[in-house]
Amino acid sequence: MAAVTPQPGRGTVLRVAALGDVHCGVGSPGALQPLLAKVAAGADVLVLCGDLTAYGQPDEARTLARELMAAIKIPIVGVLGNHEYESGRQDEVRQVMVDGGVRMLDGEACEINGVGFAGVKGFGGGFDRRALEPWGEPTMKRFVHEAVEETLKLGAALARLRTARRIAVLHYSPIRATVVGEPLEIFPFLGSSRLEEPLNRYSVAAVFHGHAHNGQPEGRTSAGIPVYNVAMSLLQRHYPAQPPFRLIEMMVPPAAPPPVPAETARTRESLVADDGR
Ligand SMILES: [Fe+2]
Ligand SMILES: [Fe+2]
Repeated sequence: MAAVTPQPGRGTVLRVAALGDVHCGVGSPGALQPLLAKVAAGADVLVLCGDLTAYGQPDEARTLARELMAAIKIPIVGVLGNHEYESGRQDEVRQVMVDGGVRMLDGEACEINGVGFAGVKGFGGGFDRRALEPWGEPTMKRFVHEAVEETLKLGAALARLRTARRIAVLHYSPIRATVVGEPLEIFPFLGSSRLEEPLNRYSVAAVFHGHAHNGQPEGRTSAGIPVYNVAMSLLQRHYPAQPPFRLIEMMVPPAAPPPVPAETARTRESLVADDGR
């Protein structure tokens, strides 16, 4: 269970650390320990935004899972990235992470200390008026269909959450702003504006993604929702004096008092009626 910091009269704060694109290989076990120790010391939850492995090999995932288990006792939420698909063993990779205690989200949601997390990998297709449309060859239509499917999964996951605060976890970017800096030619492969619609519709509190290693660390959706690109190499470049993870504090409002049971309400009404007679 994550620790939470009480804020008298204002609810609690959940400290969320986010990190993407670790690209863990099998060659250097223990390399992540200094970073993960800082995460463990400063956060209540860790979010992993995909590209967990270099080539999507289960041995790479086992290396990462061992690193996480050695250093992290707080809850971990994660999504797969495109690298996990490279070897066609993404289901094994996912299971290794689940066995290592990571809540892997693929159109699912979970709640941690009053904050909801919804996750999907996402997909490409490009942004805004230049987004790819399902037109022409069947392959083009399938490409767009993949982004539409991921968007529907994200919306369904968000719809299941009943928490006052929701966080979305993606690998691909839902907005253009956080991929700026990458070559223009590859923008359509870095994310899709289609993913933005459910984020706005469900008034998500924050969005984390990775994948665009040379993008920008922050942007906002058209509704003003903060979007954080947490690709590890990007954070190292932008914030060289800090450990390469993003930490945000999420205020969790106090739980609403439970509704008065209907029977009690009726009893009170009858008591008032009795008094009046
Ligand atoms: Fe990556
Ligand atoms: Fe990626």
